[in-house]
Amino acid sequence: MPDMLVRLDVLADGRAERAALRCAGIVVRRIAAYEAGVLRAFVAGAFSDGWADEAQRCFVHQPPSCFVAVSEGKIVGFAVHECTRRGFFGPMGVDPGFRGRGVGMALLLTSLAAMRDLDYKYAVIGWVGPQGFYERHAGAKVIEGSEYSIGPDWLLPVRPESR
Ligand SMILES: CC(C)(COP(=O)(O)OP(=O)(O)OC[C@H]1O[C@@H](n2cnc3c(N)ncnc32)[C@H](O)[C@@H]1OP(=O)(O)O)[C@@H](O)C(=O)NCCC(=O)NCCS
Repeated sequence: MPDMLVRLDVLADGRAERAALRCAGIVVRRIAAYEAGVLRAFVAGAFSDGWADEAQRCFVHQPPSCFVAVSEGKIVGFAVHECTRRGFFGPMGVDPGFRGRGVGMALLLTSLAAMRDLDYKYAVIGWVGPQGFYERHAGAKVIEGSEYSIGPDWLLPVRPESR
């Protein structure tokens, strides 16, 4: 899967998307340090241990480089930046029960605006899955020859029985 490049200076900051979600009881906000365990459990449970590892890196920054969507005291979506590599956005994910309501859009635009505030002009979306989502909603373009920016020599997970 390729990486994509996004121009940050032409994007909205996600304010309108956050306001619309707030009316539906979903708050998009930055994660706090004391919520690290909850973030890890959500990402590992809904997505993968690998994504949970990447997401945990958000706490090396102050403030943490992660936004979450919260409904009734629970995380229903997350997006991190400046975690996998410098200047990278992602991973991002929304709980399947909350997809199609604009949560992904709000997380994406809010995070990319935060990267713009860090003085980035462009962001790299690493190893994309839903290319069409990023093309249509952030004007992202595939970076030619970028298929293996992450891996392919990554370490395999250690299973308990092989320890
Ligand atoms: C991709 C993802 C984050 C989108 O979240 P979401 O909350 O459903 O997105 P939104 O409701 O904000 O959708 C916004 C728009 O994107 C479109 N969209 C959503 N998922 C899409 C996908 N996988 N591919 C193409 N377009 C998509 C929607 O149709 C909508 O378009 P519209 O505004 O024209 O109707 C979510 O599907 C997800 O968590 N997927 C699994 C994890 C993943 O692939 N993460 C990205 C890793 S790089």
